[in-house]
Amino acid sequence: MTVLVMVASKHGATWGVGEAIAEVLRDRGLQVDLRRPDEVAEPSGYDAVVVGSAVYMGQWLPEAREFIERNSGVLAGLPVWLFSSGLSDSASQDSNTGGGRGLRVTLPNAREHRHFSGALDVSKLNILERAAIAAARGKYGDHRDFSAVREWAGQVADGLASQPRA
Ligand SMILES: Cc1cc2nc3c(=O)[nH]c(=O)nc-3n(C[C@H](O)[C@H](O)[C@H](O)COP(=O)(O)O)c2cc1C
Repeated sequence: MTVLVMVASKHGATWGVGEAIAEVLRDRGLQVDLRRPDEVAEPSGYDAVVVGSAVYMGQWLPEAREFIERNSGVLAGLPVWLFSSGLSDSASQDSNTGGGRGLRVTLPNAREHRHFSGALDVSKLNILERAAIAAARGKYGDHRDFSAVREWAGQVADGLASQPRA
């Protein structure tokens, strides 16, 4: 079974979350491709897809949203899990089950949307980003909980193991 783990990350923290997920899935015997949205035109040939994005200003990164939008047809026929990574406690409006262009509308088959804590490294931010963080009183540091990430990836693997073979 081949799984696509698609990760949109601006400064690398969410990519690290994706790497941890991919590692767990590989340890569980799955074939895994860890890719950025611009590296895969269409997720055909995969048996399952995990899509994750960093959250900026309450939204998934544009390339992650575009990936979902342009592939909604293919994704509708696959087991799909979503994750967000950011510093607020909840997933973004745009990628969550909420209103607007919420994914439930375009991706009703998503098994789950999990939110993980992210990381903010001041040295990687430009001046506008630093100003936004100061205004929002964001906390710098690495808040990623890799045990929670690995546990969730294990649940994804369990879900795939109980999936009827196509
Ligand atoms: C300018 C800016 C805006 C952000 N906006 C949000 C936000 O709206 N919600 C949130 O949960 N996290 C927000 N964050 C935190 C990032 O999502 C978090 O640092 C994430 O781990 C970054 O992932 P990346 O390194 O993969 O890009 C923001 C960070 C920056 C620098």
